[in-house]
Amino acid sequence: MAVKGIILAGGSGTRLYPITKSISKHLLPIYDKPMIYYSISVLMLAGIRDILIICDQENLNSFKNLLGNGSNFGLKFKYKVQNKPDGIASAIILGEKFIKNDKVCLILGDNIFYGQDFQRKLSKAISSDLGANIFAYKVADPKNYGIINTDKRNNPTSIVEKPANPKSNWAVTGLYFYNNTVIEKAKHLKKSKRGEYEISDINNIYLKEGDLGVQYFGRGFAWLDTGTCDNLISASQFVETIEKRQGLKIACLEEIAFRNNWIKKKEIIKIFRGNIGNTYYEYLMKVVKDKT
Ligand code: DAU
Repeated sequence: MAVKGIILAGGSGTRLYPITKSISKHLLPIYDKPMIYYSISVLMLAGIRDILIICDQENLNSFKNLLGNGSNFGLKFKYKVQNKPDGIASAIILGEKFIKNDKVCLILGDNIFYGQDFQRKLSKAISSDLGANIFAYKVADPKNYGIINTDKRNNPTSIVEKPANPKSNWAVTGLYFYNNTVIEKAKHLKKSKRGEYEISDINNIYLKEGDLGVQYFGRGFAWLDTGTCDNLISASQFVETIEKRQGLKIACLEEIAFRNNWIKKKEIIKIFRGNIGNTYYEYLMKVVKDKT
């Protein structure tokens, strides 16, 4: 069974006003590339090529201008408008026709994942027999996330969305793998007190069924979200530091596609024709030269 990808890139971005008054936050730069590149790269690292991008009506054309039909990255993009930001779980309903009978990986367009062994963790989630697989990360500010409560043996007992009195620091990250029953589960959800269809409610259903797998990211891993001005600048600085130190780019989509043999050198050259003097292009030229 195939795994489809959904990127949720709608929402109101109110915490970033006035920056986001006329542009989706997912199109803002994180150092040297648009934010949405980072979540696309995660799906690519998981081997997922069929992707639905969910955004608001105002930004639809900008997303299409940036990403097109995906062929520049060896991918297939479809687009769907979310009319109002009524919750992360509504992405499953909006994506029902796209998911069809397949499995689905949902990723939030403002999450950044970086670290060794990530691809192995992704493969483990994809090949898991469990109905849902999620990832947890220790955070200093647990009140802002979906938080995992555990029993004495560290088994998850429930997930609480933005708890007033958090019982742990293990946040659920914005990357979720589900089997096809997620569609039925999403259809039966009720809105939470804050008026949203909560992804944590879906995860709790799987947990109750004994069908939820949780993988924990260790201390060497970086999971960043980019919802506030401070987070935006820290994420950019993080990417800049790693890229300059190693001379390797994070989330360079053409590079991932090229290394996976999804696009060829001549296609990269064609895409960037006329971009001489552009550091992103120069980097790609080095990548293709080194590999050939
Ligand atoms: O980042 C991980 C956290 O994401 C999880 O720990 C929480 O359980 C989960 O509820 C979510 O919490 P946030 O408060 O960070 O979600 P936020 O409303 O900021 O939205 C996250 C992304 O999803 C953002 O890129 C905007 C997009 N979004 C959100 C909503 C509610 C949409 O596209 N449509 C929506 O309706």
